Amino acid sequence: MDKLVIRGGNRLAGKVTASGSKNSSLPVIAATLLSGQGCFTLHRIPDLQDIRTFTQLLNHLGAETSFSGNTLTVSTGNVESLLAPYELVKKMRASIYVLGPLLARFGEAKVSLPGGCAFGPRPIDLHLMAMEKLGAEISIETGFITAKAPGGRLNGACIEFPTSSVGATGNALMAAVLARGTTTILNAAAEPEIETLCFFLSAMGARIAGTGTTELLIEGIDSLSSVEFTNVFDRIEAGTLLAAAAITGGSITVDGVEPEQLRSVLKKFIHAGCTVTRTEDSVTLASPETLVATDITAKPYPSFPTDMQAQWTALMTQAEGTSRITDKVYHERFNHIPELNRLGAHIDIIKNQAVVHGPRKLSGTKVMSTDLRASACLVLAGLVAEGVTDVLRVYHLDRGYEKIETKLASLGAEIAREKYREFD
Ligand code: UD1
Repeated sequence: MDKLVIRGGNRLAGKVTASGSKNSSLPVIAATLLSGQGCFTLHRIPDLQDIRTFTQLLNHLGAETSFSGNTLTVSTGNVESLLAPYELVKKMRASIYVLGPLLARFGEAKVSLPGGCAFGPRPIDLHLMAMEKLGAEISIETGFITAKAPGGRLNGACIEFPTSSVGATGNALMAAVLARGTTTILNAAAEPEIETLCFFLSAMGARIAGTGTTELLIEGIDSLSSVEFTNVFDRIEAGTLLAAAAITGGSITVDGVEPEQLRSVLKKFIHAGCTVTRTEDSVTLASPETLVATDITAKPYPSFPTDMQAQWTALMTQAEGTSRITDKVYHERFNHIPELNRLGAHIDIIKNQAVVHGPRKLSGTKVMSTDLRASACLVLAGLVAEGVTDVLRVYHLDRGYEKIETKLASLGAEIAREKYREFD
């Protein structure tokens, strides 16, 4: 297995370019299943384990894919299997994204039920509710969801989500674009990843109004075309890199971004005392002498993202004062706290809130990644800890951060990837 070995203490400086967004690539790749015509060319797709797993799933269904230099080509004309097997779904919950497009194009789909995940239960009831509203008949047996559209085609409907869900909104959208008639999605997720999916579907010929808002209106059509498309930047990666600069007392520029999508995060950096400068496509962050404790509450976009919560917690271990971290999306997403405390942080969990007492001097040791963003948080802590921090099980990190150690090293961090045996 791989680990990251970090010698903390270097202030980061320089410029780095954001990669393409993982969380928008996944629904965009799934949406290629909606059209059997021609070949899609998708640019700025990050080379990540999750993307590889997802293309494997498409290959399993019969699609042809080729991935090189962040450009993915996909032809879905030969898709003939409508079954997403457990072996692939268990590796990545986002595999559920094939449900909507398969059902919309073929009138049928069978997808293995995803399991739980490291930070609590992650139901898919809203995905199923949306498919049922569109007329699908759903049954769950032997660990599989089987969905069928009577007569082979879904019908437009009004779908109102009781809770904002990125994945369920994406699935509903992909199902609705080929449904007969009009669909309204209320309380839709307005995350940039869904906005990007709307742009992609619209480029394919879909008729969608309300892109970027919580109310989407979709006029179903009979068929969609293949297109060439450039993906959006990864706002979570960009935010993580800025946090890496802030935790080391450094100053960096991240370019290739749309700063507006980072607004809630940048606001918190400013509150914490950082100087933030924006251009049309870059953000520069300069750290203060002393960081100021700053509370956050993770909520759906445009609020502070849950996927930046763990990294913010790491940052607050170096801030003067007490900060409170609340996550309203995943109430129990605190697996990283015991590991941060092992590095010397003082964080209590009180009633679904992490209370961070800072600043604390961290000192390097071995720490274990438990999920994607928890790993990023531990890397940040390692960058400021005295001595050497070994972040084990970095396969979690590799699911979502493209060349993270190369990027951090280019900014001056002392970080290297090494092999290790789990029980050494
Ligand atoms: C996506 C992101 C993930 C991010 C999350 C929230 C991808 C691949 N993953 O996950 O990184 O942390 O958005 O921004 O894009 N819920 C239900 N029933 C459902 C679906 C969701 O109750 O059927 C709940 C979830 O438990 C959670 C909330 O809704 O509390 C939001 O989850 P959701 O937005 O669906 O997350 P994902 O799309 O799985």
